[in-house]
Amino acid sequence: MTMRRVDDIPLSELKGKHILVRSDFNVPIVNGEVADLFRVEQGWKTVQYLSEHGAKVIIISHIGRDPQESLEPVARAIKKIGRVVFIADLTGPATRGAVYAMREGEILLLENLRHDSREAENDESFAKELASLADIYVDDAFAAAHRAHASIVGVAKFIPSYAGFLMCHEIQEIDSARAPVHPSFAILGGAKFETKAPLIKLLLEKYDHVFITGALSNDVFRARGLSVGRSLVSKELPSEDIISHPHFLAPIDVTVESSDGHARVKKPNEILTDERMVDIGPDTVAMLAPHIAEANFILWNGPTGIYEEGYDSYTEQIAQLATKTQTKVVIGGGDTIAAIANVDLSNNPNIFLSTGGGAMMEYLLKGNLPGIEALK
Ligand code: ADP
Ligand code: 3PG
Ligand code: MG
Repeated sequence: MTMRRVDDIPLSELKGKHILVRSDFNVPIVNGEVADLFRVEQGWKTVQYLSEHGAKVIIISHIGRDPQESLEPVARAIKKIGRVVFIADLTGPATRGAVYAMREGEILLLENLRHDSREAENDESFAKELASLADIYVDDAFAAAHRAHASIVGVAKFIPSYAGFLMCHEIQEIDSARAPVHPSFAILGGAKFETKAPLIKLLLEKYDHVFITGALSNDVFRARGLSVGRSLVSKELPSEDIISHPHFLAPIDVTVESSDGHARVKKPNEILTDERMVDIGPDTVAMLAPHIAEANFILWNGPTGIYEEGYDSYTEQIAQLATKTQTKVVIGGGDTIAAIANVDLSNNPNIFLSTGGGAMMEYLLKGNLPGIEALK
């Protein structure tokens, strides 16, 4: 069975109905304020559509890794783009009272789902309580669809379920990245080697060139017998069939920082014991430029350097090169998108920024996710 979309619900069915929308409003909070609204903005279209057609919209989401974290700052930030009433409750009396009193078009945001331990346990009683708040369930939380939690895989068992606009759009774009048109080019960087290692093999099969960068390339250098000083490394080393694959590319120069904080560009075989690799270098960008210019499809996850410490210039240069092509570019990962926040991508409609990090990686790999399966 295929997934039904939110716009498959007849408009006459929306008016006056309670609709439970699972969004991923897991946005970064700095000093108690939302630092970046990207996920909320991308997810707002579904909420707005339902509200404009007279539905009573109840938004549920998680935030952060600390179950005590609150979505209240998110509700405050949403006021810049829309109306929302925050309820500091999940399925208790405060929520039930507010839900009962809702008027057509009204939007509620409930508290962090992970306040209730039954969420992550995928507890059926919790899913049932959530479902009992509404007539219809709409899942728009692509970025959390790799989590088999109650709000993601449980609710659809109890009330009619649909995919939201963002969910549908993400699936469509990442499906195209799973079967890229040639010539295709993939850039995989950042850290988190454990989550990315299984992907490298798949990308080498599907893409004409795969550039491994960020901290991942330290492991490549080590596998080639080079010393990487104090650079960030992972436990695993990439296998020989990966690093000698004809589609495989690694940096040809790197920016290293010495213990006194000075940065300089070097060849990968020149890293000293007191140095750590913090980014790629200009020759590597020059090597990548023709690949980016000639590709018909580009997939990119992971910054080339430690952008939080200011080593963002080469990541930005790659983004600049991507803005100049007519190529379809799919970019994902919270850090990747944050690292290129200063590059104006708005003039290139071929660039798609995914809200997914782990979800995007897992969907690329498997072509399915628990949250998508639950809607079928
Ligand atoms: P995303 O969130 O986009 O999926 P990751 O979380 O995998 O990306 O990777 C981002 C992290 O990788 C950042 O914290 C960044 O500092 C780190 N990183 C990138 N390049 C390097 C490097 N050369 N050495 C150490 N860390 C790096
Ligand atoms: C994410 O940020 O990748 C999603 O919101 C999922 O969050 P989680 O990794 O805490 O489950
Ligand atoms: Mg990250």
